[in-house]
Formats: sequence, C-alpha cells, structure tokens
Amino acid sequence: MKIVLGPASTQLGELIAQNLKAETVPVISKTFPDGESYIRLEGKVENEDIAIVQTTSPPQGTKLIQLAFMADAAKRNGAKSITAIVPYLAYARQDKVFLKGEAISAETVARMLQAAGIDRLITVNIHQENVLFRFPFPAKSISAISALAEYFLKRGYAGAFALSPDAGAVHLAEEARETLRGEFGYLEKNRDRYTGQITMKTKNFEVKGKNVIIFDDIISSGGTIVAAVQILKGFSPKGIHVACVHPLLIGEAEKLILHSGIQEIVGTDSVPSTVSRVSLASVISQELAK
Ligand code: R5P
Repeated sequence: MKIVLGPASTQLGELIAQNLKAETVPVISKTFPDGESYIRLEGKVENEDIAIVQTTSPPQGTKLIQLAFMADAAKRNGAKSITAIVPYLAYARQDKVFLKGEAISAETVARMLQAAGIDRLITVNIHQENVLFRFPFPAKSISAISALAEYFLKRGYAGAFALSPDAGAVHLAEEARETLRGEFGYLEKNRDRYTGQITMKTKNFEVKGKNVIIFDDIISSGGTIVAAVQILKGFSPKGIHVACVHPLLIGEAEKLILHSGIQEIVGTDSVPSTVSRVSLASVISQELAK
C-alpha cells in the first residue's frame, strides 16, 4: 500500500507510512488567486492500493475538494484501489433531516467522494455511526478514545472519573473508563436548533474530590465544554481535564475553555492544533494493517 500525503494531514500521513513501512506519495497543492484548488500527485500510483490521508476540518469545502481531486488523480493514473483516511469527516453531524427543508449533508458528501473514485473510507470517532450505513461504499469509524485515556493514565490519572457532556456520547466515557478504571457518567445536554443556545442538566453521580476528565468527540465553539465545566464545578471535583478527538477549536474556544477553570485540554492530530498531543497514527496504522 502507498500513502498519499494529503495537504491537510501531511505529518499524520508520514507517521502512518513510517509505522507501515509504506512508500509515500507527496502531493503538490496550491490555491489559485480566485480561491480554486490545484492538486498534483508526485509519485506513481499505477496498480497500487493507495490510502489518501486527508482530514476535512475547516475550511471543510477546500479540504473536501482537495480529497476529491487526489482521488480523481489517483484513479486516472491507474490506482488499483483508493481508501480515504479522513480523521475528521466534515458534515457528519447532519445525518438526518432535523427541520423540514434541510439536506442530509453527510450523505451528499459520501456520494461526492464515491463519484471522485473513492472505494472505501476510514474515519475516526464519527459523531453518529448510523451515518456510515448511508455511504455507497464500505465506511468504518475507528476510535481514538483509548489512546486519549492512555495519555492521562500515563500521567497518573488512573481511577479518574470519565464524563461525557451529552447522553448521546456516553459510549465515549464508558470506553475511556475501560482504560482509566474509574467510574463514568454523563450530563444531559440540549441545544436549541434555532439559536444554538446550550442548556445542561446533571445526572446522579459523585465526583467530589475526584479528577474528572470530560471526553467529547468534537470541540467546536467550546460552548458544550464550558457549560459542562460550569455544572461540574458545583460538585467540587479535585480537577477537571478535557479530552477530545477532533479539536476544531473555532475562534476563542481554547481560551474560553481554559478560562472556565480546567487544567488541560488534550486533542489528537485529527485536526492539527496547539492541543494535539495524541497521534492517531497508531490506531489508523493498525486498521490499515488488518
Ligand atoms: C455534539 O453533540 C458534539 O458531540 C460536540 O459536543 C459538539 O459538536 C461541540 O460543539 P461546541 O464546542 O460548539 O459546543
């Protein structure tokens, strides 16, 4: 297998290639003065199984188009099969019609990628696994939660309380608990579909004097985490840490969260950022090696 180093995930692609002892295909990319994207593969892909590593964090449109162009270029140059490794899959949160008149963006993106020539997709902690059934080709979501929990375990947080800020994400806290060997719980979050305003309710759990680690898939505006921290502080925990797979950290999100009174934010290199201290290279390499 050859690894195509997508411009949005060059470093991660290189780490995956090192792990797998695979050859890399560098990519030339540029943006024209009018904003259009240009892509050229700088290596042979003929008769090769190739994996394109390209995250699709903001600017999502540009990164998705780059991914489609890389797939098209690979197909035209005779690649045998094309796997897209998309750590953060843009538009995956719109997995159904919530309000009449909306598109199912996740499905539209999937069809676009198929048209570009992609045969298979691997992503990481997709927001809703159900969305993968809508894909017209095999698509799988792997998890980085144990890698994040491992980070805290190595720093002496065995037994920490794993918390999810939303009932729908309780599986993340439960998965982290397997590594941390403490308890887990969740908050109940409600987001107004029109205003975006978040309200949160507590569940019955005891965190007094304990280290709490909040596990979430995505941090975007930071609103969810800040609301969770505000509630948690009322329970007098020893410390609060935040772990997330996809640190989008839009605008002032990082500052807002740090100022809310937490110790640390840790994310993965799904979205390269100042908090990306855990690499996805090993979970992705293991999946590719199967
Ligand atoms: C939503 O359900 C996700 O799991 C995240 O909690 C959410 O996307 C985070 O967004 P924000 O940081 O804007 O609150």
